[in-house]
Amino acid sequence: MRNKATNSGELRMYNSLKQNRSGGKSYGHFDDETKEYVISRPDTPTPWINYLGEKDYLAMISNTGGGYSFYRDPRQRRVIRYRYNAVPADNGGRALYLRLSDGDFWSPTWQPVRKELQAYECCHGAGYTRIRSVHRGVEAEVTYFVPLGQTLEVWRVTLHNTNDAPLELQVFSLVEFCLWNALDDMTNFQRNYNTGELEVEDGVIYHKTEYRERRNHFAYFACSEPVAGFDTSRDAFLGPYRGFDCPLVVQEGKSNNFVTHGWAPIGSHQIKLTLAPDESHEIIFLLGYAENQQDKKFSAPGVINKSNVKRTIRQYLDPAKADAALEALRKYWDELFSIYSAQTPDKHVNRMVNVWNPYQCTVTFNLSRSASFYESGISRGIGFRDTNQDLLGYIHMLPARARERILDLAATQLPNGGAYHQYDPLTKRGNADVGGGFNDDPQWLVLSVAAYLKETGDYSILDESVVYDNKPGTEQPIYDHLKRALQYTLDRLGPHRLPLIGHADWNDCLNLNCFSATPGESFQTHMDTTAGTTAESVFIAGLFTLAAKEMSAIAECSGHQDDVAYYLSQADQMAQRVMEHGWDGEWFLRAYDHFGTKIGSKECNEGRIFIEPQGICIMAGIGVDNGRAVQALDSVQKHLATEHGIVLNQPAYTRYYLNLGEISSYPPGYKENASVFCHTNPWIMISEAILGRGDRAFDYYMRICPSAREPISNIHRCEPYIYAQTIAGRDAPTFGEAKNSWLTGTAAWNLVAITQWILGVRADHDGLIVDPCIPKEWSGFKVTRRFRGATYVIEVKNPSHVCKGVKQVTVDGKILDGKLLPIFGDNKMHQVSVLLGTKA
Ligand code: GLC
Ligand code: GLC
Repeated sequence: MRNKATNSGELRMYNSLKQNRSGGKSYGHFDDETKEYVISRPDTPTPWINYLGEKDYLAMISNTGGGYSFYRDPRQRRVIRYRYNAVPADNGGRALYLRLSDGDFWSPTWQPVRKELQAYECCHGAGYTRIRSVHRGVEAEVTYFVPLGQTLEVWRVTLHNTNDAPLELQVFSLVEFCLWNALDDMTNFQRNYNTGELEVEDGVIYHKTEYRERRNHFAYFACSEPVAGFDTSRDAFLGPYRGFDCPLVVQEGKSNNFVTHGWAPIGSHQIKLTLAPDESHEIIFLLGYAENQQDKKFSAPGVINKSNVKRTIRQYLDPAKADAALEALRKYWDELFSIYSAQTPDKHVNRMVNVWNPYQCTVTFNLSRSASFYESGISRGIGFRDTNQDLLGYIHMLPARARERILDLAATQLPNGGAYHQYDPLTKRGNADVGGGFNDDPQWLVLSVAAYLKETGDYSILDESVVYDNKPGTEQPIYDHLKRALQYTLDRLGPHRLPLIGHADWNDCLNLNCFSATPGESFQTHMDTTAGTTAESVFIAGLFTLAAKEMSAIAECSGHQDDVAYYLSQADQMAQRVMEHGWDGEWFLRAYDHFGTKIGSKECNEGRIFIEPQGICIMAGIGVDNGRAVQALDSVQKHLATEHGIVLNQPAYTRYYLNLGEISSYPPGYKENASVFCHTNPWIMISEAILGRGDRAFDYYMRICPSAREPISNIHRCEPYIYAQTIAGRDAPTFGEAKNSWLTGTAAWNLVAITQWILGVRADHDGLIVDPCIPKEWSGFKVTRRFRGATYVIEVKNPSHVCKGVKQVTVDGKILDGKLLPIFGDNKMHQVSVLLGTKA
């Protein structure tokens, strides 16, 4: 993975940043061999980012080295400052500058100086990013990563002089520290300009704002070279009225060497090198977070006790240790990626399934919707609904962590079975500001627990005793939590005995009880107090049906015999009501509003059909046996499917509707108002697969598949290696433009759709189901799946070119009755061959 010295011959030249502004240009390519996305020009349409870290210390890094980092909570423990909405985009945070003796200086990652480079390349890989560039014959390579289990980021810099003459080179590093609380940091200047404190010792810059009082944590920025100078004050470093693109210190080649008080603390090292022709030199920078025990905070009055952290610094400044850490990281990811791997005739499927989609699922698991370039890390904690769905794409990789997360979520559940909409990642307590009453929320817990059980067979989780609302003394087994989740819906039925919607269901913006006429009021939390007993959600009805069926299966497998029939009958009754009151003639209705008027019906002028109930009801099995599912999906194709994916509703709302809320606040084609809200598309793929229509399922998969959209990066604009939340719909002037990349339930659901329903290999309570639903053109494919302690090597053949239908399965040479592979648990490899076709 690591290149010893940069070789400019390997770097593709990019000529001029000014050329070719429009149309079809390429910003990079996938390297399937190295599992990297290689960006070949720095001026991507939006910052194309990557995440570093897998647990406590997390960082974002853009293709030009920008971004920010934090420890556990992006709001309360922000390590470096980031300016959202900045112009030029994505500058500040972290930076490197190189300077030659004639005064020429540049950033080897392009930003923030943005001097034209002779060559540039950024490789994003799983858990690391490497940026290489050439300017004036200086080849630079910077690799950024967070070692496993550590709370620090490594920047590993290699500089190589390709000139015939020796070079005097200076290196300046830069991080701007955040004063920990990211919201306060951006608002409370009258205090914050006075609180900043640092220490500098042996070339290490320690950020210790508020350490004197109640904090026991600090940050540090270290460097492997003897430093020629340092800076700690942003204002002194930049000089008055200057930006990060042209700091006075770098321009003059002279650091200030003083420890600042107050204002904006930064860390910058100055390093002086002389490089002979062809000489390479390596420098390691470490930016880390550390905590001390309360009674061991100080080594002398006011001085940080650094004994623990010094050991860590020494270790990771050692290149051999850094090498080993990077290697360990690579192994870690390869191991995770090997749990489900596929070889199909389609390269997009292969790279998404084998690398990028599970990778994105680990990021959404870690961060829910909290910290990205579009989520500020300030307002959104761990979403109840979101995280339960994120788990669906994660459990197979790290079941132990999934288990812990499930227990944390359940502990925030309310005694009535409901849920806080979010919880705080640091305290793990429900966030009262956002409150609850999103009536779909509790159901998702049933789905995540079901998925956990199917993957692991660990039924002991059902007996785990967990509190409600974090209150000691309220402990009940998880099984009880699930029962209450379902009961929550049964206790809240409306006039058609369909579930009441509350603040909203999955669609946060369908606010049928809100009636907000005051600008700025939160659609999410405001509720007209006279409302709430009429508006019903067909979506929740579908979701409940699905969850109740899962619950029945859970009851069966865990010896709660009495509940098996009960939940099945609840599911049936709900499905029946959907048939009666939730069917509009050609598709499933969306809801009834506060006045009992239909939403998502042919009777409406706008918003006649919505995607969500079509997907969820069919996934719950509603209408599958009587032709309605087919009809609903044909309606989806007719009214909602576009070349850029399936839009959420049609026609888009063209004005604000008091009775609908936020959905109608968005201009047509954006977000919940008729964009391709990517999260929902896999529900349709799964539904198509349930009906056996593999060509359609796959076609929908491809329409939003980031890799398949790479050639239209100039339209799509977001990263081509991961999903974005939304793609502007056909009503929007920017049809096809993606937004809000990375943190979206799209990641988990697409992984579920492609791996479990299209390729058709999915865990169940008593084994591994193989039931593909593929494009009929495919002659076959292969999946390797580790499952409950054995490896299944599954070869699927499709000689008669069908979409669906398992004709015969053999396991280790023996014919199997059915398509459920047994649980072996013997640490061995098992050869499975599956023949598709119609049974004689
Ligand atoms: C956002 C939210 C998610 C919600 C969706 C639709 O993605 O995070 O909870 O379901 O929007 O409104
Ligand atoms: C807005 C967004 C929605 C998101 C919600 C979360 O309503 O449109 O997608 O779920 O905010 O607060």
